[in-house]
Amino acid sequence: MRLCVTGGSGFVGGNIVHAGLATRQAQVLAMSRTWRGERHAHPRLDIINADMRDAEQFAAAIADFKPTAIVHCAIDNTNYAAMERDQRIAWRSFVDPIVHMADIVNRSSARLVLISTDWVFDGSSAPAAEDGPVNPINLYGRMKLASEMITLTHAERGSVARVSGVNGKHHMRSDFVAAQNEGYGNFVTAAVDTLLRGDVFEVWTGGVTKMANPSHATDCAEMILRVAERDLDGVFHCCGSEAVGRVELARSIAAALGLPDDRIVERPDLPTDGRHRLVPTDSSLDNRATRAALDYETMTLHQLIDAVITDRRSTSGVSGRLEVS
Ligand SMILES: NC(=O)c1ccc[n+]([C@@H]2O[C@H](COP(=O)([O-])OP(=O)(O)OC[C@H]3O[C@@H](n4cnc5c(N)ncnc54)[C@H](OP(=O)(O)O)[C@@H]3O)[C@@H](O)[C@H]2O)c1
Repeated sequence: MRLCVTGGSGFVGGNIVHAGLATRQAQVLAMSRTWRGERHAHPRLDIINADMRDAEQFAAAIADFKPTAIVHCAIDNTNYAAMERDQRIAWRSFVDPIVHMADIVNRSSARLVLISTDWVFDGSSAPAAEDGPVNPINLYGRMKLASEMITLTHAERGSVARVSGVNGKHHMRSDFVAAQNEGYGNFVTAAVDTLLRGDVFEVWTGGVTKMANPSHATDCAEMILRVAERDLDGVFHCCGSEAVGRVELARSIAAALGLPDDRIVERPDLPTDGRHRLVPTDSSLDNRATRAALDYETMTLHQLIDAVITDRRSTSGVSGRLEVS
């Protein structure tokens, strides 16, 4: 496989790059906006900087590589306030690049896999199946849904892989700090880090997603690569298989560390650095059809928590090392 991963320096993309190198003999192109990754040299890894808002530059970089699969993970996470003020910025960052990538794959025989989100749902159909009714309630979800539609209708070989609440090792950035946010992404890692430091973990409970499927990044990466290499059309839920409440999840993490429940406290107000977006309260997903299509069983919730604890306790859990044997 010749695997192009946009956002290859990011958390999810870095895990797909890692899996492509470590578990397959893939030739990998990791694309990023600014990250250079000099320390991550691997004989089968190329790294290119290109801004996805510059269609020509981006398309040229991909076309030169001649991928058999493009996994689109890149996301501009920095500019939500500006995007809310002027939604043309959001369309340029999220949706226009998908149109260009669909054009690229249509000129070759490559597959396009768009990484999407559980936040395309509003919670009313939770746990939402792959063909459940989408109804995003924030700008991010709407941009992802538009991107899904273009991938599925404009790309001749297009598929959508929705992930949710991803946790695990960041292979690309040594300065990465796992922090709680309104969703479940990095929630387990942030709680484990806080509790291992001996601090109390404050679970945000107001204005946040309170029920979702935490996922492990290695499960997400494996499922996404299977979609690409099996050349599968459609929508896939490449996420953990168990939905759990936010406070219950935090208490399970404390229990796995042998700590009492009082190390977990509820914090009903969002801290000032919270993004204050409207988010679905319940974004849990049903992934049974995906697991059957991919012949894959994900970690249980307890295995996921244990994997993160083991990772954070071990020296190999240090972020920013792309270790491929
Ligand atoms: N993490 C989760 O829990 C979660 C949950 C649901 C869905 N998702 C989806 O998964 C995907 C990846 O998320 P993530 O958490 O891995 O994000 P991330 O860690 O913030 O990574 C973002 C990536 O996008 C690149 N990028 C940013 N702006 C760009 C631009 N203008 N042009 C080209 N590349 C650009 C970054 O490159 P630089 O490093 O050079 O800046 C980086 O590689 C996203 O589509 C997200 O919606 C994630």
